[in-house]
Amino acid sequence: MKKIIALVLALMMVLSLAACGGNGGSNKGGKTVGIAMPTQSSERWIKDGANMKAQLEEKGYTVILQYAEDDVQAQVSQIENMISQKVDCLVIAAIDSGALTGVEAQAKQAGIPIIAYDRLLMDTDAVSYYASFDNEGVGRAIGEYIEKAKDLANTTETYTIEFFMGSPDDNNAVLLHRGLMKVLQPYLDKGTLVCKTGRTSFEDTCILRWSQETAQQWCENYLSGFYADEDLDICATAFDGFAYGCRSALEGAGYTLDNWPLITGQDAELMASKNIIAGYQTMSIYKDTRLLAEKCVTMVEAVLNGTEPEINDTTTYNNNVMVVPSYLCTPVAVDQSNYEELLIGGGYYTAEELAG
Ligand code: BGC
Repeated sequence: MKKIIALVLALMMVLSLAACGGNGGSNKGGKTVGIAMPTQSSERWIKDGANMKAQLEEKGYTVILQYAEDDVQAQVSQIENMISQKVDCLVIAAIDSGALTGVEAQAKQAGIPIIAYDRLLMDTDAVSYYASFDNEGVGRAIGEYIEKAKDLANTTETYTIEFFMGSPDDNNAVLLHRGLMKVLQPYLDKGTLVCKTGRTSFEDTCILRWSQETAQQWCENYLSGFYADEDLDICATAFDGFAYGCRSALEGAGYTLDNWPLITGQDAELMASKNIIAGYQTMSIYKDTRLLAEKCVTMVEAVLNGTEPEINDTTTYNNNVMVVPSYLCTPVAVDQSNYEELLIGGGYYTAEELAG
C-alpha cells in the first residue's frame, strides 16, 4: 500500500512539473539571459534594454540586465559575472568590443552563446548572430536627406558643412561615415559643400564614446575659429546627443532660428523629436528599438532551442575573424513632415510626450 501511495505521489509530481513547463509561463526551463548594455546616458539604450527584458520575460526567461555607463572595464566585469552566474546566453551591446575578446572566449569555453546587439562584436569567433540596423544605410539616409533638403544636385549655391561622427571603437560609426560620404563626397569635391575646418575624414571627425560634451566643444571651436564671417549651414552629426551639443554651441554663438543650420541626428530620442518639432534639429534617424529587440529575441531562442532565426544578411558583417549572420532592420529618416505618422502613428511616442 505504501508503495502505491508513493507511486501516486511521484506521478502527481511529474504531472504538475510537466504542467509548469508546458504553459510557456514563468520559467523557460530555468533559462537565464544576460544582457550587457553600454550606457543609460542616452535614451535609446534604456529603451533597448527595457524592450529586450520585457520581451524575454514574456517568453518565460529570467533576465539579468546591466549597464556599464560607458566604462569599458565595468562592462568586462559585468560580463565576467554573468558568465560565473552561468547565464545560458549573452546579449552584448559593446562599449569597446576590442576589449571584450577575452571574456567572449571565456563565454565560448563555458558553452554560452553570444548575440551581438546593435554593435558588431569585432575580432572574435564566439558570436553566433548579430541584430542591428543597416548602419551604412543610416549614413546614406542622413546624406540623402541633406542632398535633398539643399537640392545639392541642382543648386548653384554653396553650403558650409561640418561633421561630427561616432566613436572610433564602434564599427557602426565607421559604416555610418562611409554611407554618408558615398552621398556627400561628390559635393565636397565639386565645391557645392564647403567644410572650412577641412575635417571630413573619419579619423578627423570621430568622437570617442559618442560624447555630447566633445561635440559641443568642437562645434564651439569651429564656430569661433572658422565661422566668424560666414554662417555654418549644416551640422552633419551621427547622433542625437551630438545634435544637442551643436544646439548649445550655436545658441552660445548667437544663432537663432532665422539662421539656424540644418542639423542631423540619429535615434529619434524624445528630446531630439521635440527639437525637430521646435526647429532646433532638422532630422533624425528613427530606429524602432522594439523591432530590434524582437529580432534579437528570435536569435536568443535560436541558440537556446536550436531553431532558425530570421537572417537577412550573410555577407556584410565581417568582424575580422568571421562573417556574422545578421538581421538588419531598416532605418528611416524622420523630420517635421513625417514625425506624426512615424513616431505617434507607430506608437513610439504619444502626442502628449512630444508636446510635454
Ligand atoms: C548606435 C546608434 C547610437 C550610437 C550612440 C551606435 O552604435 O547604432 O544608434 O546613436 O551608438 O549611442
